[in-house]
Order: sequence, then structure tokens, then C-alpha cells
Amino acid sequence: MSTRAALPVLEDLPPLAGHRVLVRTDFNVPMDGGRITDDFRIRAALPTIQWLQGQGASVVCASHLGRPKGKPDPRWSMDAVRARLAELAPGVELLENLRFDAGEEANDAAFVARLVDGMDAYVDDAFGAAHRAHASIVGPPRTLPSAMGRLLAREVDVLLGLRDHPKHPFVAVLGGAKISDKLGVVEALLDVVDALVIGGAMCFTFLAAQGNPIGDSLCEPDQIDTCRRLLASGKTIHLPEDIIGVAADGSVQTWGTHLPAGAKGFDIGPGSAAAFADVVMDARTVFWNGPMGMFEDERFAAGTRAVAQAMADTRAFTVVGGGDSAAALAQFGLDDQVDHVSTGGGASLELLELGDLPGLAALRAAPNAPRSASGSEG
Ligand code: 3PG
Ligand code: MG
Repeated sequence: MSTRAALPVLEDLPPLAGHRVLVRTDFNVPMDGGRITDDFRIRAALPTIQWLQGQGASVVCASHLGRPKGKPDPRWSMDAVRARLAELAPGVELLENLRFDAGEEANDAAFVARLVDGMDAYVDDAFGAAHRAHASIVGPPRTLPSAMGRLLAREVDVLLGLRDHPKHPFVAVLGGAKISDKLGVVEALLDVVDALVIGGAMCFTFLAAQGNPIGDSLCEPDQIDTCRRLLASGKTIHLPEDIIGVAADGSVQTWGTHLPAGAKGFDIGPGSAAAFADVVMDARTVFWNGPMGMFEDERFAAGTRAVAQAMADTRAFTVVGGGDSAAALAQFGLDDQVDHVSTGGGASLELLELGDLPGLAALRAAPNAPRSASGSEG
């Protein structure tokens, strides 16, 4: 049985009328001084919540917020999230921040017992946290009838679909600061993609591996050998042909791939932006994770904007990994013009890399999970 087929869905739960359902959500939303700056992750959980309410269940949501390190911290209270949730989904209960208790991250059995006490079923819709083997994610399915929510199911379908049966040409566009953070997924994708497009600060380690002087740009010297190996792998890897950055005298300039001493690159240049957009336009499947430059600063936003626009314009099936690339799309007003914006950054990369996550493995072992004919799991 495939990874996906063995996962219990909402319809695999017993009748829920009058029953209490614990829903693990990822309401780890960006906050600014107690105010929610983007409620995407809350809205993304609504289909599951509404389906459960439609079945007559009482819904009790639980999430972490930030990294409060196992003790209560008013800066990370769920109050603002609870208020927004009450507007979007009246009648839903929301527990206090799970990470106010050290038992959450420690996957402590006593904490799990408290979470499931009085609950009749468990639903996991917290895709963004499914790569964490924490109490609220792996604990409840050991005893409660359990299921993936709609959001988690869609994430799994889209991301495993990229791994298992992408339409070709399949292009992965990767950016962000560090190649070391993405190495696992790069290696995994190399087998299945037709081309990799590399921008963001991580491109400088690749450019350095080719022998280009990169000035004072970010570089991970210990990854240069890895980049050389990837470049020699025979796969098509598109690197920038020009760079925008700040020269030693503080002026913003555009160079080719040879940066002068003291120069620091912050975006791909216009030639690279056009070339990368062409690759995206000609693809049938595109996965994008990581901005092409420091797009928060308008002087260094053009490369990321060009890729975002190509994502919107291409006829390819387009998937955006969470985090910074999703924020960039939203900043450019293009977030509704791609096929799937993942709610998980780390989780989407780990699922693409490994094909499974701790949260999914826990659900496959739930008492009500579909079993294959041989009785084996997975
Ligand atoms: C996220 O925002 O990436 C998820 O909510 C997981 O949070 P974490 O990285 O603090 O575990
Ligand atoms: Mg499109």
C-alpha cells in the first residue's frame, strides 16, 4: 500500500455527533507586537474545522506559537490567534500554546495523556509541524481514532505527487541563504527534476565553486566541494549570469559573475531574472522554495518578483514551499495565481526529501488506519 493510501482521512473516523475532536493545527502565524500579520495558516484550517462541525462534533484546536522553550511566556500566548479564530470559525475551542509545556517538544507520555483526556478522536491538520515528533503530533494517534485533515491531505497529495509522478519538464527553483539547509532536498530532487535553478545567497557558494570571485558575498566554504559535485552531476543547473549588489563604496551596482573586492551580492541581475523566468515558463511542473534575493528591500526585489511573476504566468503546475517564498508571493499580490502554496517550509522540504514525516507515520499506525491486505503498514 502506498504511503498515501495507508493514511486515514476524515471519512475513516467513527461517527462524531456529540463527540469531542482534538485538532492539531499549525497556527504558528507571523506576529508583530501581539498583532497577526498574516492569517493564512488559520484560514487554511477552516475546511477541516467546518467539516467536523458539520458532523456535529465539538472541535478543540491545539497549536504551538513561536518557540517559548517549555514554559509560559505572555509574548507567545494564543490570545490573538483565538480572537481571529473566533471570527473565522465561531464555537471552536483553542488550547493554550502547546510549547508552554516542556512535555510537548519532549514527546512526554504524561503530556499526551492530558491532551487526549476527554477526547473521542484526533485530527492532524498541522502540516507545517508534521516534521516534528512532538507530543501533540505523534502521541494522540496511539490511542484515538485519527485522521489527516483536508489541509494535510492536500499537502501530502501535492508534494508526494511532485516526487512520484511530476509532469516533465520538472524544474526546481531554489533560493534562500544556505545551501547546507537545502542539501538533502537538492540531492533528493536531483533524481527527479530536469533542471535546478539556483538563486538567492546560496548561489554564491556555487559561483565560488566554479572559480568566480564573489567579493564579500555570503559563502559557505565547507559546501564548495558539494557544489562542485552537484555541478558535475550531469544535471542541468542554471546559475545567475549577473548579480546586483552593493559595491565597496556603498553604491548599488550590477555585475557579471565576477564580483570586485568588497562587493556584496543581494539579488540576481536582470539577465538572470529573464533567463530564470524563461525556464519556469517552459516547464510543466515547478517547485519554488526560497527568494532570489533580499526582496524585503525594494532595491533587491526584482529577481524574486520576476520568478514570482513567471510562476503566476506559466501553464506549469506550480508549487511554492512555505516561508519566505510564500511571503514574497503575497507581497507581490500573486499568491492566488499559483496552484499550491504550502503552509509548511521545513515540512515541505523534508517531505520532498524523505517521502514521509513523523506526523504521517503516526497516523498510519492509528487504530482506525486503513490496512493493506497483508496487514502490513506503509
Ligand atoms: C513553522 O513555522 O515552520 C512550523 O510551525 C514549525 O515551527 P518550528 O520550526 O518552531 O518547529
Ligand atoms: Mg499558472
